[in-house]
Amino acid sequence: MCGIVGAISNRDVTPILVDGLKRLEYRGYDSAGLAVVDAQQSLDLKRSVGRVANLEKICSDVTGTIGVAHTRWATHGRPAQRNAHPHTSSSQVAVVHNGIIENHQELRASQKAAGFVFSSETDTEVIVHQIDWHMQQGAGLFKAVQKTVGELEGAYGLGVVSKQQPDLLVAARSGSPLLIGLGEGENFIASDMSALIPVAQKYIVLEDGDLAKITSNSVEVFDSNGQAVEREIRTSTLSDDETELGGFAHFMKKEIHEQTRAITETLEGRLGANNVLELPFGENAREIFDNTKELKIVACGTSFYAASVARYWFEEFGIKCDVEIASEYRYRKHVVNPGTLFMTISQSGETLDTMAALEMAKTLGYSNTLCVCNVPESSLVRASDLTIFTHAGREIGVASTKAFTTQLVTLLLIAVCLRRRMQGDGRRIDDMESEIVRELRTLPQQIDNVIELEEQIIAMSKHFGNKEHALFLGRGAHFPIAMEGALKLKEISYIHAEAYAAGELKHGPLALIDEDMPVVAVAPNDELLEKLKSNLEEVRARGGKLFVFADEESGLQSDDETMVLNVAPVHNHIAPILYVVPLQLLAYHVALIKGTDIDKPRNLAKSVTVE
Ligand code: AGP
Repeated sequence: MCGIVGAISNRDVTPILVDGLKRLEYRGYDSAGLAVVDAQQSLDLKRSVGRVANLEKICSDVTGTIGVAHTRWATHGRPAQRNAHPHTSSSQVAVVHNGIIENHQELRASQKAAGFVFSSETDTEVIVHQIDWHMQQGAGLFKAVQKTVGELEGAYGLGVVSKQQPDLLVAARSGSPLLIGLGEGENFIASDMSALIPVAQKYIVLEDGDLAKITSNSVEVFDSNGQAVEREIRTSTLSDDETELGGFAHFMKKEIHEQTRAITETLEGRLGANNVLELPFGENAREIFDNTKELKIVACGTSFYAASVARYWFEEFGIKCDVEIASEYRYRKHVVNPGTLFMTISQSGETLDTMAALEMAKTLGYSNTLCVCNVPESSLVRASDLTIFTHAGREIGVASTKAFTTQLVTLLLIAVCLRRRMQGDGRRIDDMESEIVRELRTLPQQIDNVIELEEQIIAMSKHFGNKEHALFLGRGAHFPIAMEGALKLKEISYIHAEAYAAGELKHGPLALIDEDMPVVAVAPNDELLEKLKSNLEEVRARGGKLFVFADEESGLQSDDETMVLNVAPVHNHIAPILYVVPLQLLAYHVALIKGTDIDKPRNLAKSVTVE
C-alpha cells in the first residue's frame, strides 16, 4: 500500500528518496513520485505511473537537500500521473499522504470557492491546498500543517515541504504509520523502516496526533495538544539480507522455502522438554492466560484463515473461540462475555481494519488484548496488552506464506497454554501436551519433506495453466486450509478459485463440476477422511478432475480422473500447518506458467493501511 519517504540533509537527497521508494515496492503501488526543493529554491516535482524505475529515469536532473517521495496505491482517483503524489499547491508546498481524508469533499468545495484549482481526483489534494491557504494567511509551514490537520477527518501520515522554508521537513500522523529515521547530520521520514535501511538505524515512531519539525540536525515532536513530547528512540534490526532474493526467482518461492527455518525460530526458546513454556511469551502472559475464559479472534485475509484453523484447536481443547473478519467486526454491535480475550492476528501489524477493530474492542470490556504479529515496530503491537511474535522474518511477497505457517505454530502454542487451564490449575503437563510438543519438534523436517515434493507439484500445476476456475475442498481444520489455498491461487495466478467445506458440495457447488473445473482437495488421515472420500466420489461421478494432497496411508490412488500426491503421515494437530505448503507451491507454479507478477500481483498491496 502507499509508501512515504522524506529526507533533509546536507547532501543531495534524490538518490535516498528513490532508493527508499524501491525498498517500499513490496508494499504494492501503482504510481510513484517525488518533490525536491532545489538550489534555486524551486520545487522540482516528478511523477510517473508504474514502477519506481520509471520515476528514476525522469529524475536524473533532480537535486536538492530536502524532499518527499511516495508510492501510491489508488483509492480516490485511478492510477494516473496527475493522481500520483506528491501533490503541490501554487508550486509552494508539496505533500505526500498515506491514509484517507473523509471530509475531502467539503474541503474541496470551500477551497474551490477560495480560488484553488484542482489538478487531481485525490482526497490528498485538499491537504496541500489547505496548508498553502494557511501560509497565505501568514502562518509558517509548521503552524500551517498544524492548523490543517486540525481540520482533517480521517487517517493520515503526512510529509510536507515548502520552498519558502527549505530547511524544514514537517511530518504528521494520525491513523497511518509514520516514523522518523535519525541520521548523522541528516534526518528522514518513512512509512516503514525498511525504506531507510542504508541511512538510519535509530528511529522514532510518531504516535497518533503527533507532528514533527525536522531539520538536518534536529527533531522536535509535538502531541495533538501542541505540547513538546519525547518519543522513545528505537534501534532497527532490519538488514539488507532479508530483502534480497538469495538465488530464488521470487520472494514468494524464497519465503516458501524459508518456512523450515522460520518455524524453527518460532519454536526457539518456547518449548521445554515435554511442554510449552509460557515465560518467553512475556511477563504478563501468564496473568493474561489465567484471566481468559474464552476467545474472540479478529483478522483479515490469510491471518483470518490462520485464526479459522486455530478455532478447531481451541474448541477441541475446551476453549470457546469466535473468529471474525476485522472489516465486519468493526461495524456491528457485540455482546462480550466476562473473561473474553480479544486477539488480533496480523503479519504486518499495520492492517487498518484490524487496528480499528482493536481500538473498538478496547472500549467493549474484553479482559485483555493479545496480538499475534510478525513486525515488532508495528501499530498493533504497540496497541495491545501482549504480543506474541511469530518470528517469520521479513515477508516481502504479497502472497503470505511463511507468515501464515508461523502464525499457525504460534496459535497452537497459545492453544496448548490455554488448554492447561481448562484441564486444571494451568501447571500440569499431560500426555497430549507432550505429544504435541514432540510433533512440533518434527515439523521443520516435515515441511522440508513436503517441499521436496516440488517436482511432482510442478507436474500437477501444468493442468491449471489454461483453467479459469478451480475449487478447493477440505474438511475440519483443513477447510480453512482449502480457503487459504484458494486465496493463494487467485492472488497470484488470477484464476478464480473458491473453497468449500467438502460436505457442502452437494448443497450447490456440485453444479459447477465438469472437466474444466479442477478440484483440489487436502486429505490428511484424520477422522473425517472417509467422509471426504465420499465427497470426492461425488466429484468423480460427475466427470470432475481431482488433484488430491493425501496422506500416503489414506488409500487414495491416482487414476485417469484423479492425481494423488502422497504426503508422509503426520500428527492431526500439526497436519494443517503441513498441508498448506503444497497448496502454496501449487499456486506459485501455476502463476509461473501464467507469467504473472508473482511477488506484486496486480491491484494488491502487502500492507493494507486503508479501509
Ligand atoms: C495474504 O496472502 C494476503 N496478501 C492478505 O490476505 C493478508 O493476509 C491480509 O491483508 C492481512 O494482512 P496482515 O496479516 O498484515 O494483517
